[in-house]
Amino acid sequence: MTGDARVRELYDLSSEGNAAWGGAYDGDLHGDFARLRRTGPVHEGPVAALLGRPLPGVFAGDLRVFSCFDWDTVDAALRDNVTYSSEVYKGLDIFGPNILAMVGEEHRRMRAVSQPAFTRRAAQWWIDKWIAPSVDELMRRFEGTGRADLNLELCNLLPLMITTRSFGLEDDDPVRWRELIEDMIRPDSPERRRQASAEIADLLAPVIAGHRRQPEDDLMSVFTQGTVVEEDDTTRPLTEDEVLGYCRLLLAAGTGTTWRQLGITLFALLSAPDQLDAVRKDRSLLRAAIEESVRWEVTDTTFRRLITRDVVLGGSEIPAGSVLEMCLSAANRDPGRWRDPDVYDVRRPLIPHSGFAGGPHVCLGMHVARAEITEALNALLDRLGDIRLDDSGPPARIVGQEHRGVTALPVVFG
Ligand code: HEM
Repeated sequence: MTGDARVRELYDLSSEGNAAWGGAYDGDLHGDFARLRRTGPVHEGPVAALLGRPLPGVFAGDLRVFSCFDWDTVDAALRDNVTYSSEVYKGLDIFGPNILAMVGEEHRRMRAVSQPAFTRRAAQWWIDKWIAPSVDELMRRFEGTGRADLNLELCNLLPLMITTRSFGLEDDDPVRWRELIEDMIRPDSPERRRQASAEIADLLAPVIAGHRRQPEDDLMSVFTQGTVVEEDDTTRPLTEDEVLGYCRLLLAAGTGTTWRQLGITLFALLSAPDQLDAVRKDRSLLRAAIEESVRWEVTDTTFRRLITRDVVLGGSEIPAGSVLEMCLSAANRDPGRWRDPDVYDVRRPLIPHSGFAGGPHVCLGMHVARAEITEALNALLDRLGDIRLDDSGPPARIVGQEHRGVTALPVVFG
């Protein structure tokens, strides 16, 4: 298979690896969520099974599973990480020690190691060092051609280049890294998860060792030089496993999400030319355009928690030891919170959504993701003239069940 064909396959949501997350689903997902929400905010069963399309699961095993679908229940579960615990992710055996699965003080201490590199202010560091140069490099490849599939020529590669370069990797072969990430999180194959996780450790070990000897101005050095403050106020460096845990988590959490969310944002704007025009003329609307995209069609629909005590949520009794699936996508279209929630509207008043979650585990990389999408949109609007969807082929669509994204983003410009 040629490099181009392999890239096409890896970023096709209906291909084998992505299909394990329901990527091929092309039906009315939000209609299904609305139907479930109308009959009660909380239901027994995993989201996918309630939709009638079960997916391979990795978190629950034999545990009872409940799912919640409105703003109030999702928001309550995100905020109370003691009752609705992120320990659920400890069952995911492939990252090594990582903040997604830690709780309480342990989580706070380990997250504090990297938090300064992920603040709103630090986004400028990411822009100058990795985001702007990567956007420029990718755009140079197609800006003179008058047409491109932005899903395959920009959205997919950008977050991967930024993440691997922030680790200090010079050879950021996107095909190899995407294969490894896809395998590392495959819900249907523990064997492939383990193999990919081990291979990532082999690739990163020399980079970690090099950064321990000689720090650089990059994210890897934040991990190799950073210290954890222990309970008794002593400090210690991160172990090799902890550095790897951070790196594997960031590869998984920061690349597929931002690839698909950038595509969704572009799709929403290109499908509403009046809104695209408004953003082109008034770039201060970019912020609203991105937040509205994350509200309207967040890439990852569902996250999970372990219930640590018997609790009543949304009127339903949930016993301790169950797993709760929080359907962020459904909460983000709760008609009790947003008028006409199914409409993408950049002029909507900005109020918090749950696309980046909330509470102690709120997305660590949200300012980086916003900066990536902002830089990419600005560059497209500045450099490609009258950019519009190319309607000569099959129309692009948003598809997918647990992972949402565009089928393609063919555009013409100039
Ligand atoms: C638009 C793109 C993104 C979306 C929609 C998104 C969404 C989320 C959500 C919903 C969570 C919470 C998971 C949970 O509590 O169970 C999360 C956590 C996280 N995200 Fe993102 N994310 C995005 C991009 C990124 C990027 C670019 C990075 C890194 C550069 C990143 C790194 C992380 C990390 C490390 C966590 C775990 C935080 C913790 O547990 O304390 N994400 N993300």
